[in-house]
Amino acid sequence: MLERDLVIPCTVVGLLQLREQMPTILVTGGSGFIGSHTCISLLSCGYDVIIFDNHSNSKVFPSLEVASFLSINNPDRIKIIHGDICKPDDIEHVFLASEKIDAVIHFAGLKSIPESFKNPSKYWSTNVAGTINILNCMAKYSCENIIFSSSATIYGGGQGKQISESDLINPTSPYGWTKFISEKIIHDQHKAAKESANSCDETSKTINAIILRYFNPVGAIKNGIIGESPLLSATNLFPTIMKVINGEDSQLNIFGNDWPTIDGTGVRDYIHVMDLAEGHVAAINYLLATPNCFIELNLGTGVGYSVLQVINTFEQIVGHVIPHTFHARRDGDVASCVADSSLARKILKWKAKRELSEMCFDSWNYWSKYLGSNL
Ligand code: NAD
Ligand code: UFG
Repeated sequence: MLERDLVIPCTVVGLLQLREQMPTILVTGGSGFIGSHTCISLLSCGYDVIIFDNHSNSKVFPSLEVASFLSINNPDRIKIIHGDICKPDDIEHVFLASEKIDAVIHFAGLKSIPESFKNPSKYWSTNVAGTINILNCMAKYSCENIIFSSSATIYGGGQGKQISESDLINPTSPYGWTKFISEKIIHDQHKAAKESANSCDETSKTINAIILRYFNPVGAIKNGIIGESPLLSATNLFPTIMKVINGEDSQLNIFGNDWPTIDGTGVRDYIHVMDLAEGHVAAINYLLATPNCFIELNLGTGVGYSVLQVINTFEQIVGHVIPHTFHARRDGDVASCVADSSLARKILKWKAKRELSEMCFDSWNYWSKYLGSNL
């Protein structure tokens, strides 16, 4: 059986019957990097999951290997629907075909900062119009809870200090703007629903939301059965380093060695994708227990590492030098971007636990399995 055989086309209902009593979470973009890890965490915490993805940047989740892993730990509680958030009918089909959807985690979208400069309208139509389509369908089918995947990129950098949720919003790329505007639309919907509920308007539709602003997600699940394997060409640091380790690229191009940072290279708050996945479960737990909720939360570790520090950590793991050269700064980049995640700690009782060395090791472990003998 091919992996594709696990997909349910829009017209067919149910890979497996969902149990009625479990909260059901619709995960858009659930076959992608962060979505697939989050689905594993949701399933292991007892949630049922419906994945909705057009597989433009991911293989179908779960793969056969993952499916067999899940059948041990999480029997029969996952459904996959192939569809596009840009097509309202596809989304409506999911709601029509599902008995109940308690909440949506909206990951689906485009995420490359460089590509968003080249093709901004594609980013606005997928990320912003796609989010509006999801919200419209949620209102139509009385689904009140959404977690939205936003990004630290909306802040435009932290000038060497940790960034908190109330700091200046200043996106430096079209991608960053699409994330910020989507946040704003969700907030407006929440506010409008709250006001009409206060005025006893019977048509009011509640919308409870948690906006999660991720810093730099990396790593992979410990057993290496899933990880970051984009179909589109990746421009992020970790996949690019992997290509150099794997010999696909001869060297890493470092964008800028004149930033005002510890060694002149860009500093980021890398967060292990499993910490992020657990953050989503904490957010869903909170959202489902908290009426009238709207919160914006940073998810990061609070610690920043430069590009050279990341390279050095990988070199220790793989046991050889990773060749690199310095180049001009990249459009849309900032010197430093590190989270103050104290609000998420306080509200969600969540904290990132995994260190940079574990992030690098788990990424490498996944890639060495995925890329096989090339490593
Ligand atoms: P990803 O590309 O691995 O996952 C996104 C998923 O959405 C993919 O499976 C893709 O096939 C799907 N998708 C794309 N367009 C779609 C459409 N029109 N309809 C249905 N599905 C569609 O990316 P990721 O790293 O898992 O990111 C998930 C979310 O988190 C994105 O919204 C991204 O902007 C946000 N985010 C990511 C990062 C990061 O560095 N990875 C950082 C901050 C925020
Ligand atoms: N970098 C290089 N060479 C590369 C790739 C990256 O030097 O080949 C540098 C960048 O200049 C930056 C750092 O590595 O200093 C991290 O770059 P990434 O592309 O991995 O990550 P970004 O911080 O630019 O952006 C990522 C995601 C966005 C998300 C943001 C949140 O791509 O979607 O993190 O902070 F919004």
